[in-house]
Amino acid sequence: MKIVTIVGARPQFIKSAPVSKMLRQTGYQEILVHTGQHYDYKMSQVFFEELGIPEPDANLEIGSGPHGWQTGQMLIRLEEILRAEKPDWVLVYGDTNSTLAGAVAACKLQLPIAHVEAGLRSFNREMPEEHNRVLTDHCADLLFCPTQTAIDNLAKEGITAGVHWVGDTMYDAVLQFTEVANQRSTILSDLKLASKGYLLATIHRPYNTDIPENLVNILTAFKEINEPIVFPVHPRTRKKIAELDCRLNVEGLMLNVKLIEPVGYLDMLVLEQNARLILTDSGGMQKEAFFFGVPCVTLRPETEWVETVEAGWNVVVGANKARITAATKEFRPAGTPPAIFGDGRAGERVMKLIEG
Ligand code: UD1
Ligand code: UDP
Repeated sequence: MKIVTIVGARPQFIKSAPVSKMLRQTGYQEILVHTGQHYDYKMSQVFFEELGIPEPDANLEIGSGPHGWQTGQMLIRLEEILRAEKPDWVLVYGDTNSTLAGAVAACKLQLPIAHVEAGLRSFNREMPEEHNRVLTDHCADLLFCPTQTAIDNLAKEGITAGVHWVGDTMYDAVLQFTEVANQRSTILSDLKLASKGYLLATIHRPYNTDIPENLVNILTAFKEINEPIVFPVHPRTRKKIAELDCRLNVEGLMLNVKLIEPVGYLDMLVLEQNARLILTDSGGMQKEAFFFGVPCVTLRPETEWVETVEAGWNVVVGANKARITAATKEFRPAGTPPAIFGDGRAGERVMKLIEG
């Protein structure tokens, strides 16, 4: 069995690691293709090193650019690789431009497509990811869903064949790497942080970074919260803050906020577990907050991960300053989050279903 796995962005390295491990252990030939969508050391290579992902067989080094250009460049190069490799399966993850390019390239060559994290919907067509998800799911032959909601979403679009619940491969990764993270990471002492004595924040969605009013609202809320906040800054966000800084002196104003470079996965797992609360627009971090039983305030108008909200561990507040500050003060879920995202064996299920 030959499988071409296509990844390109930070969350895809994490999602794919538990699956790749199972595929390789079973003796399948996996050709790993990195589109190069993310390329900074801290957005890419660090994950390969920390999660023990083998060097990609090909790195297309596409880099950044407008959506159509970026997706088109990937499509051209992926078609060449898929034509040469003739795999039994093309495996894609999540909802980035790398996902869509992989799905379209495979579809045009009539190669079978397996989509991990199928069926997620925000029902917000302003998000580039929503187009990528819908189009990829409609090309896919095997659709691996992390939740029942994802299965229901696909059914509403008429997709029932090839749909399987497998759980969430990000949960597999958390179970596999938390112990080693807690042993190896020195991030808490490096940043002089006490467990539960700080908040953790990330933002990178265009809704928050590219609409200046929303970015200002979020940063002002962070300042007004007036608790220590650790904020590993995505490169997209770093650029937008620099633009604001011409007018606002962001770092000077936000004395309680530590803006740091993006961190590796092991440091992130430690930062998440020890945060009093997480403020984020990240899909992956909403789930990781839930896995660790850390309250999450989601800085988006909606979420795909509705189970985390229904279970009482996530509150969706958008980019509204008053709602962000109020939720951060008042949101105190109790108890333990239920096991909604599987049992840490999603990667194994994916492998078995691909086997047929
Ligand atoms: C992409 C995904 C998004 C995912 C996110 C994970 C799409 C449409 N979006 O968003 O779904 O949640 O990755 O982090 O696929 N940049 C660097 N160095 C890097 C990578 C990016 O400087 O290594 C900068 C560039 O200025 C680039 C910008 O970040 O233009 C955005 O990168 P891009 O990959 O286009 O989108 P993300 O916002 O990262
Ligand atoms: N992450 C990380 N370092 C960071 C920010 C995020 O390791 O500085 C991890 C995080 O733990 C999660 C994944 O990257 O596993 C989420 O990626 P991101 O927020 O970029 O994308 P999304 O999940 O929103 O698509």
